Amino acid sequence: MVFHVLTLFPEMVRQALGASIIGRAMDRGLIDVHAVNIRDYTLDKHGKVDDYPYGGGAGMLIQAQPVFDAYQSVARGRKLRTVYVTPQGRPFTQQMARELSQEEDLVLLCGHYEGIDERVLQEIVTDYVSIGDYVLTGGELPAMVMIDAIARLVPGVLNNETSAQTESFHNDLLEYPQYSRPVLWHDREVPSVLLSGNHREIQEWRRERSEERTAAVRPDLYARYQKKQKAIRKLSLHKREHIHIMEMLRRGKGELLYDKEEDVLTYDRESGTFYMTASTVEGAYRLVEQLRKTLLLPPENGAICPGERSEWFVVNQEYLKEMLIDTFGAEDFGTCIQACYTSREALPVKHKDIRRLDLSHLDYLEAHYEYGDREYLLDRLQAGTMYGAFVEDRLAGFIGLHDEGSMGLLYVEEEYRRRGLGASLEAYLINRQRELDWTPYCHIMENNRESLALQEKLGLYLSSGKLWWLRAGRFPR
Ligand code: ADE
Repeated sequence: MVFHVLTLFPEMVRQALGASIIGRAMDRGLIDVHAVNIRDYTLDKHGKVDDYPYGGGAGMLIQAQPVFDAYQSVARGRKLRTVYVTPQGRPFTQQMARELSQEEDLVLLCGHYEGIDERVLQEIVTDYVSIGDYVLTGGELPAMVMIDAIARLVPGVLNNETSAQTESFHNDLLEYPQYSRPVLWHDREVPSVLLSGNHREIQEWRRERSEERTAAVRPDLYARYQKKQKAIRKLSLHKREHIHIMEMLRRGKGELLYDKEEDVLTYDRESGTFYMTASTVEGAYRLVEQLRKTLLLPPENGAICPGERSEWFVVNQEYLKEMLIDTFGAEDFGTCIQACYTSREALPVKHKDIRRLDLSHLDYLEAHYEYGDREYLLDRLQAGTMYGAFVEDRLAGFIGLHDEGSMGLLYVEEEYRRRGLGASLEAYLINRQRELDWTPYCHIMENNRESLALQEKLGLYLSSGKLWWLRAGRFPR
């Protein structure tokens, strides 16, 4: 990912970001910070970039021309996601950081003096963002704050894969308190549960402390968290049918867009997937209406912006499927059975040599996986969720997590089939997810008897109802 910072103080940006984790990520080629001096683009022979505001008032404004030309030097005719950092913007949040981390190029425009001529903002800016309700002397510090928060979400920048999953703001909860050695310091003891080795009790204790903290310090976040918990409890009445929606919410991946009676609509921005379930035809109509409204909101109000990539609907009712085909021209992709692993026990893994795959395995994945393109496989590798089974140090099969959170992408080479390699791969992936306190699940095409049998053999429960996957077509824009 490349950050292009348009600024009057490029040295400030270069120096501050050259150190520590972000600096190392630059050295490793995972991100690049490209500071562009707006002053280099002025046509004024004295190097001036500012002038008095029409109508009077204090201070000077940065003029439109140098900003526009500096932008064009980066964009070269393309339309790039361009953030103007300003106290007048939308508040910067972890969710916004996650969304912006999906961009390949991000332009950050830093203001100074009293601001920038409105006309150039209208031409190039896509997002107005503030880092808080206070006024700084310029946009460089806010731009660097944003770069730090976004860059650490770029796959590979943090070497600890799970830390981005458990930290503050994940799932609307603040992080729990942490302790290290010694056990006793200044008469204060480490809570005994943390020394117990009981993984489940530790998880529970941590969740309780997170909830307490969030309720005390951030009632706004806590209210959102409680809403999600309420929806999860309701969905759990038919857990095998709804595990995908529950997990989307529990893993902090998705937003709850609608929740009334037994009708629920969630959306995961990362994968562009809507999950929908209704209990009546009327309820289904309301969901479709809500979806239409959500899609029609202007993007600056935080609306969903499908853009170029394909979006998906996953629905629990056939009538909902028909409505989505009629309303949005969605395309029927397949009928699935859902399977989930709810036991607390880790599964035995017979095959011993299973390892996480990295970018060096991309060609192998592309050559053997028929249902996804190279870009998707690259994304899955970068997310760190692809695992391979090796036989005598040679890759013989793989499995992974799809971007919306289900297990899949399973492949085993012909000569190694019927030897339990697929079962080992899935058992391994299940165990990894149980360590995160997730409930592993997968969607199997209803006619794939071999895979359905494998799920039952491993101890997964199959849903009695079906799930329909639809590729979203035209949106009502
Ligand atoms: N520029 C000056 N103050 C700012 C703030 N709080 N957020 C973003 N940009 C700014």
